[in-house]
Amino acid sequence: MRIGLPQEIKDQEFRVGLTPASVQALAQRGHQVVVEENAGRGAGFTNGDYATAGATLVSDPAIAWSQDMVVKVKEPQSSEYGYFRDDLLLFTYLHLAAEPALTEALMASGVSAIAYETVMSADGKLPLLTPMSIIAGRLAVQFGARYLEKQQGGRGVLLGGVPGVQPGRVVILGGGIVGTEAARIAVGLGAQVQILDINLDRLSYLETLFGSRVELLYSTSAQIERVVPEADLLIGAVLIPGRKAPTLVNKALVAQMRPGSVIIDVAVDQGGCIETLRPTSHTQPTYMESGVVHFGVPNMPGAAPWTATQALNNSTLPYVLKLADQGEDALNKDAALAQGLNVARGKIVHPAVQEAFPVMVPA
Ligand SMILES: NC(=O)c1ccc[n+]([C@@H]2O[C@H](COP(=O)([O-])OP(=O)(O)OC[C@H]3O[C@@H](n4cnc5c(N)ncnc54)[C@H](O)[C@@H]3O)[C@@H](O)[C@H]2O)c1
Repeated sequence: MRIGLPQEIKDQEFRVGLTPASVQALAQRGHQVVVEENAGRGAGFTNGDYATAGATLVSDPAIAWSQDMVVKVKEPQSSEYGYFRDDLLLFTYLHLAAEPALTEALMASGVSAIAYETVMSADGKLPLLTPMSIIAGRLAVQFGARYLEKQQGGRGVLLGGVPGVQPGRVVILGGGIVGTEAARIAVGLGAQVQILDINLDRLSYLETLFGSRVELLYSTSAQIERVVPEADLLIGAVLIPGRKAPTLVNKALVAQMRPGSVIIDVAVDQGGCIETLRPTSHTQPTYMESGVVHFGVPNMPGAAPWTATQALNNSTLPYVLKLADQGEDALNKDAALAQGLNVARGKIVHPAVQEAFPVMVPA
């Protein structure tokens, strides 16, 4: 198969769909990979790295887009819709429920579009979302520690403390993948950590993982009202799949936090779980409200493109290879991959996307 790798053009997006190692794996199986020049630069990969791996480099993105399959990271931007055609296989993050114009463009053109975020294994896991949740969770504490610094508007608390001085307190709402990874880093720094979740099985699992090093609490509004005012760093990490995140912390509770405390709401991409938090960007990541630093970047892994690109490829490569070897037939043979198909032959085929756009689904 001929595979195209265009450069990402979304603002502040430095990741790339294929690493040179993935290109090499494709080339070894006889596939041709066409890479737009500088596609990997933001993630730390040179044109020479891709050439050595067996890719053909082109300066015109239209050539990368004209291949049988295009592998990307973010959803195509409006200036890329012109590249769509009915024999194109597209494999990337799409998040179509929030992208009506893109959905319409994919339908109008007849592209077969497979979304990373809906590839789902038999046990309900989302293997192509997990690596980004791991990175976002780990980054949440890294960013939080930084914004607690006085010069960044924070309280001037060192999360790990020092002998003789109390460490900082990290409160994590949601003990799923993001929450667990945030706790792992916070514990590593020496902070006091509390995780709140409504899933008792998950809390039991976290006990086996962290023992008594982390305080595990059942998440109720009373419990949240008790712990949030004491938090130096509050991390939002809840998810109810397919739904907007529930608002767990209201404005009045944020006002009870100490001046210079920090809120990192990782769940901002699902609407956020803190009432006062609105989406921000890597260019302007924070704002102050009620004296508290608010951080709401929806694409946190974009801050670590070198790590994130490789982590993403570790998960996507097996599927990329199947699609390259078998074409769309791979969807018939791999049930997890089949769940990824969102739009095909002019129709929305994924139930969640159909639900988001009932008017676009023929009765
Ligand atoms: N901002 C970013 O860059 C970024 C990156 C990756 C993931 N995310 C987002 O982070 C969020 C969490 O993702 P995840 O992979 O950890 O999900 P997950 O499903 O692994 O974990 C979510 C956890 O929230 C818990 N939960 C649900 N309702 C709760 C409540 N009322 N109180 C406490 N806990 C509750 C669930 O029981 C579950 O354990 C999602 O919204 C995801 O989209 C954001």
